[in-house]
Amino acid sequence: MNLKGRNFLTLKDFTPEEITYMIDLAAELKAKKKAGELHEYYKGKNIALIFEKTSTRTRCAFEVAAHDLGMGSTYLDPTGSQIGKKESIADTARVLGRMYEGIEYRGFGQDIVEELAKYAGVPVWNGLTNEYHPTQMLADMLTIREHFGDLKGRRLVYMGDARYNMGNSLMIACSKLGMHFVACTTKKYFPNQELVDLCRTYAEASGGSVTLTEDVQTGTKDADVIYTDVWVSMGEPDEVWEERIKDLTPYKVTADVMKNAGEKAIFLHCLPAFHDLKTKIGKEMGERFNLTDMEVTDEVFESAQSHVFDEAENRMHTIKAVMVATLGEPENK
Ligand code: CP
Ligand code: NVA
Repeated sequence: MNLKGRNFLTLKDFTPEEITYMIDLAAELKAKKKAGELHEYYKGKNIALIFEKTSTRTRCAFEVAAHDLGMGSTYLDPTGSQIGKKESIADTARVLGRMYEGIEYRGFGQDIVEELAKYAGVPVWNGLTNEYHPTQMLADMLTIREHFGDLKGRRLVYMGDARYNMGNSLMIACSKLGMHFVACTTKKYFPNQELVDLCRTYAEASGGSVTLTEDVQTGTKDADVIYTDVWVSMGEPDEVWEERIKDLTPYKVTADVMKNAGEKAIFLHCLPAFHDLKTKIGKEMGERFNLTDMEVTDEVFESAQSHVFDEAENRMHTIKAVMVATLGEPENK
C-alpha cells in the first residue's frame, strides 16, 4: 500500500483497504512506542499545525507524533497568524508548502481544508472541520478493534447530533469497514440524506448497514459500541444550547442505555465530554438549565464499559500513522 503524497481530508477519499492499512500501521507504531523502539523516520523535516478552533487531543497528538518521528512542528493558534484574515488560504498554503513537509488544519468549513490542500503541494491533514473528523475515526476504529479483535459486523450506535462532524464521520467509517451504523436521535438531527445514500452504497459493498432511528430501545439493543459527542459543537452559537438540551436529553447515554445494549457493549466519546459538569462551561450550563450531566451520565463515563481514555491515547498512534502513510513509509523501518 502506498499513500505517499496523499491528503487526508475525509475517509470518503479512501478505500476500506487503505483505511485498514492505516489502522494496521497505527497498531505497529503503537507497539514500537510501547517497546521503547525509536522511530525517528523523518529527521530534519517539519510540519505546520493550523488551529482555527481550540484543541487538546488533536494538537498534542500531532506534536507528540511529530516529535516521535523526529520532526519539528509549528503551532499556529486561532489568533496567531494571518490566515483567512489578512492572507488567503491559497497564499497561506503556498507559503507553508515551501517550508513544511505537511500541514494539519482544524477549522470551520471542509471547503477551507480542501482549498489548502489544492495549493499546498504537500500532504494536508484534516484535524476537524464542521463536516468531518477523519483522524478521530482511525483512533475510534483502532480502539474498537483492540477491544473486540475485529470490526466487521460490529454495531455502533451514535446518539446525539448526527448531522455534524462526528455523526458524519462515524457513518462513513462504519459503512466503509463493514460495520452496522445506527444514528439514534430525533429526525431533526439525522445526517444529511445525500451522505446517508452515499454511505449506504459503501455499506452494500462492505456488508455493513446504515440505520436511522428515533427509538432508543430498539436503536441501542445489542450494540457493540454506544457513542456520543457534545450536544453543542465548537463554533456554534450559544443560543442553540437550550434547544439542544431539550431535543437531545432523551438520547443521553445512561446506565439504562448501556444495560439495553448489553454487558459486552463499550462506551466511546471523542471528548471533551460534559459528564459531571465540573468545567467552566459545564457549571454555567448546569446552573442555567438545572442539569447534573448532559450527553452522558458520570456513572457511564466512569464505568468499566467506558474506554474513552484508550480512545484518546489512540489519537496519537493513529495520527502518527496518517503522517507516516502520507509522507511515505521509509524503506528500512
Ligand atoms: N477529540 C478531539 O478532537 O479532541 P480535541 O478537540 O481536544 O482535539
Ligand atoms: N463535535 C465536536 C467534536 C469535538 C472533538 C465539535 O466539533 O466541537
